[in-house]
Amino acid sequence: MGIVRNLCVLCASTFVESLDPSEMPGTASKAFGKIILFGEHAVVYGQPAIAIPVTEVQANVTVRALPGRNGNEIHIVARDIGIDGWWKELPSNSPLAATFALIKNHFKLDHLPAMEVNISSTIPLAAGMGSGAAITTAVFRAVTSFLGLKLDNTQLSGLVFEIERLYHGHPSGIDNTVIAQERPVYFIKGHPFKLISVGRQMIFLIAVSSKASRTIEVVEEVKNHLQRSPERIRSILESIGEITRHAKDLLSEGDTEGLGRLMDQNQVLLQELGVSSNELDDLITAARMSGAKGAKLSGAGKGGNIIALCDEPHERKIRAALADAGAVSVIKTILKVCA
Ligand code: MEV
Repeated sequence: MGIVRNLCVLCASTFVESLDPSEMPGTASKAFGKIILFGEHAVVYGQPAIAIPVTEVQANVTVRALPGRNGNEIHIVARDIGIDGWWKELPSNSPLAATFALIKNHFKLDHLPAMEVNISSTIPLAAGMGSGAAITTAVFRAVTSFLGLKLDNTQLSGLVFEIERLYHGHPSGIDNTVIAQERPVYFIKGHPFKLISVGRQMIFLIAVSSKASRTIEVVEEVKNHLQRSPERIRSILESIGEITRHAKDLLSEGDTEGLGRLMDQNQVLLQELGVSSNELDDLITAARMSGAKGAKLSGAGKGGNIIALCDEPHERKIRAALADAGAVSVIKTILKVCA
């Protein structure tokens, strides 16, 4: 074992059935968090969005065999989210239970070998940083590698999207895409994503507010606004799309001044959409007043986090101002130059 195989689905089932649990080595995998730089909400309605991986936070999953146990006996330990039990005891619509069912169905396996799966994560929960998608991605990676099977990033992203639907209703697909690819992406729902080039290293500070962001509810609110005031909301969403298209070029050029201004403009539109909050606005003001080049909420809003584009001389001051303005934690992420 130890060899990861790119097998056809039918061969995968024969291969997995031939495995001897007492000889299956344990595996470990991870997946990074993510943050949306531009285009949240508008992306649900066909406009582009830009997201980057946040490598400073991650979900980690280890898998080890449980020899002597029967097939499908999967012990799941995810203490961060209060789970310590067997797969079949979880409600079948829980995202974790559905993840194992999807692995089994995707590879057309009669059963999954008995295993213990340990899940931990440093990604803040319900903060717009893709914690659910990252956990699912890391589980897929660790379990398929344990089974000696392989998924490419595009297949992986597609499978994680199925589980994202259980978390978020009608997600755009941007979270699973950026988390599987681990590169900055330019994403339009229903189209192949594009990798983005970055012309200059950039420092971002992400301030997590004390209030959770409930993506499914906030996305529903925007949908209701759109039904009530179609022209006004559509025009806001189109303006966000315009900003995102421009931001893609400025990222390639490494124009941090211009990007900061676009973040501020995107925030005005998110406020008009009704997805900001006093708490998020206070964090954004604190970042700008202490030298950020631009700042906006990120993710669904009404809670969750804000992101500020910084430079090194101002970083400490901005971090302190964010803490004073109520940030529960401040995460620094560096966007590296890439072609
Ligand atoms: C949530 O992280 C981003 C939203 O645009 C929803 C989505 O893209 O599915 C609000």
